[in-house]
Amino acid sequence: MSTNNVDLSIDFCGIRFKNPFLLSSSPVSNTAEMVARAFDAGWSGVVYKSLGTDRIKIIHPSPRMNAYNYGSKQLIGLQNVDQITDRALKDNLLDILYLKKHYPDHIVISSIMGFSDDEWVYLARASEDNGADMVELNFSCPHMTVEGAGARVGRAFHLIEKFTASVREVVSIPIIAKMTPNITDMTEPALYAKKGGADAISAVNSVAGLSEIGLDDWTPKPNVFGIGARSGYTGPAIKPIGLRFISDLAQCEELDLPLSGIGGIETWIDALEYLLVGSSTIQATTGIAHYGYRIVEDMIEGLSDYMTEKSIARVADLVGKALPNLKETDAFDLERQGVTQYDLDRCIGCGQCYTVCHDAAGQALEWDAEKRRPKLIEDKCFSCMVCSFVCPIPNLITYKEMPKSWEREDVANVGRELISELKYEPYKAKV
Ligand SMILES: Cc1cc2nc3c(=O)[nH]c(=O)nc-3n(C[C@H](O)[C@H](O)[C@H](O)COP(=O)(O)O)c2cc1C
Repeated sequence: MSTNNVDLSIDFCGIRFKNPFLLSSSPVSNTAEMVARAFDAGWSGVVYKSLGTDRIKIIHPSPRMNAYNYGSKQLIGLQNVDQITDRALKDNLLDILYLKKHYPDHIVISSIMGFSDDEWVYLARASEDNGADMVELNFSCPHMTVEGAGARVGRAFHLIEKFTASVREVVSIPIIAKMTPNITDMTEPALYAKKGGADAISAVNSVAGLSEIGLDDWTPKPNVFGIGARSGYTGPAIKPIGLRFISDLAQCEELDLPLSGIGGIETWIDALEYLLVGSSTIQATTGIAHYGYRIVEDMIEGLSDYMTEKSIARVADLVGKALPNLKETDAFDLERQGVTQYDLDRCIGCGQCYTVCHDAAGQALEWDAEKRRPKLIEDKCFSCMVCSFVCPIPNLITYKEMPKSWEREDVANVGRELISELKYEPYKAKV
């Protein structure tokens, strides 16, 4: 695997990772044997499958997962009802010891989930004592069947602070708090975690979802003997949600903690996007469930090539680079407007642009049926770009800024005139 001599290593909570790519806590990080193969493939670290104490017997529902396919696209999302590990704590701790002994330059992060203060403390101590470099506190699984677990803690912010503080008292290794996306504002629980002593935040855990409903048996999937449940949805479909939450955390000045980005990362571009909005490391599961550990080869090579091309020497120099350009919508310069432009020499005459402009946009296209070509009426174009999204030829339809003196037909004004003609009165609900 070529890295073109760029430096992919990154510091995260004072610990050096040889690259920013980690396995996230899930079945991809279930045993030492699996993690060892992932390290050999190129991953720099692992967040090991969440540990619990053996006090509560963990039984996974069966079947555990449902693939959400869309058209010919396989696994754009994955729904699961997986619980924390069902392996004995001793076996998992032995695995962590083994990994640290045989892969001392790789980073092993122990993910833990307790069901009481004592359990959080016990699991954190046991992790540190057995060589874990860090602990990640799983405050965020949306579908644990055991009372007192998972997302309930993630939404009870005082508990996040309390459990983090309890762990802080007993370990000296860095603490990452893993957040649920199943809330509106993630900065609030993250600040509670910081108050409790967390050194970093990871996000996102699975989004609570319903990926599919069985049409024959009317049961949401995975269908666990006639019952479905709102449960964890992951994979490429949740990437926009993960990027948004990480950017929120990165722009929260009061938080000011390193971030580990998770959600729908399969390629070097996905990983880079998470770095650009403020993550220092990234974690992946569903991409591995789809393609295997080898996706890290594309991540290493793709990111190295990109850095070489951009003359960026260190990964740290990419972290947060998109944040200065990320603002609220009221920052837009509405004086600047544009339209679509068409490279008609490459057009195959399918007419899809015409259909969608007519039915979902400004009716800005006329259709020359003889030549089978669209013709743009510029002052009707919304510059929504919907026509370009459905065009089968890449970059045939592009955006063009218009001079400031140019005025688009003002659809809103036309609407207002019609309304006044009709003596429009605001709608009042009948009581
Ligand atoms: C089958 C499955 C099991 C998971 N188990 C855990 C877990 O035990 N602990 C945890 O913190 N996150 C768990 N997760 C969440 C992942 O670590 C990750 O946050 C989520 O899958 C989003 O990343 P992705 O889109 O790359 O899959 C699990 C995810 C899946 C799909």
